[in-house]
Amino acid sequence: MEKVTTKTFLEMKRKGEKIAVLTSYDFPTAKIIESAGIEAIIVGDSAGNVFYGYDTTLPVTMEQMLSHVQAVSRAVKRPLVIADMPFLSYQISTPQAIENAGRFLKEGGAQAVKLEGGLEMIETVSKLVSVGIPVMGHIGLVPQSIHRFGGYKAQGREEASRKYLLDSAVALEQAGCFSMVLEGMVSKVAKEITERLKVPSIGIGAGAHCDGQVLVIYDMLGITPEFNPKYLRLYAHLGGEIQKAVEEYIRDVKSGEYPSEKESYH
Ligand code: KIV
Repeated sequence: MEKVTTKTFLEMKRKGEKIAVLTSYDFPTAKIIESAGIEAIIVGDSAGNVFYGYDTTLPVTMEQMLSHVQAVSRAVKRPLVIADMPFLSYQISTPQAIENAGRFLKEGGAQAVKLEGGLEMIETVSKLVSVGIPVMGHIGLVPQSIHRFGGYKAQGREEASRKYLLDSAVALEQAGCFSMVLEGMVSKVAKEITERLKVPSIGIGAGAHCDGQVLVIYDMLGITPEFNPKYLRLYAHLGGEIQKAVEEYIRDVKSGEYPSEKESYH
């Protein structure tokens, strides 16, 4: 059981092996994901939506993310743990980005950080990498810029958008990113980027040509049924299963079926 590292990511791309990534935010789920054999866990700021119930990821704080990163890091040994930098924890200045990214490695136990943005983030990425913090880039329909996009619409259809994404991907790789999330973009552009890069692309809503895929764990397990984008495949319907179990429990409590003699101390 060899630890997955940023180097493993590069080797997997070189060998043409697809990389399977999921998000996770808590100890028990991370343990299950590790047992299933996942290569990397992104402790995503999607926690804002799926864990805290915010409409966007914008309100998520460093302290919230640190707590999730610590829980996940305590749970797993083999997968690469990547901490997602929340909104305004890295955009204000490079020293701010170093301090906050450093906390995820020092206090959180992560092995890498992820941040959103393309050409405009190059200086920050290159400084983080130069002080020893591995960075995963994230371009496309980046959720922290949702108000700039004005809605969830796949990127890369217009030539200007295609060019920005391609230039950003190349610049992020040159700045030292070990990998890159491509989110919400037309698959033709994701393919072009993937073929251009030596580092692996990890897609979410970016088609089949990426070097790996990531999904939000609660979405693919069917715990967030109100969220149903085109790219999402449901691998379970746990929302319904949990509801059924709770309904049965309520029935048993009300009827006196639970607890039985066997479930009581004597
Ligand atoms: O916040 C998140 O969960 C993410 C992944 C989907 C890549 O950014």
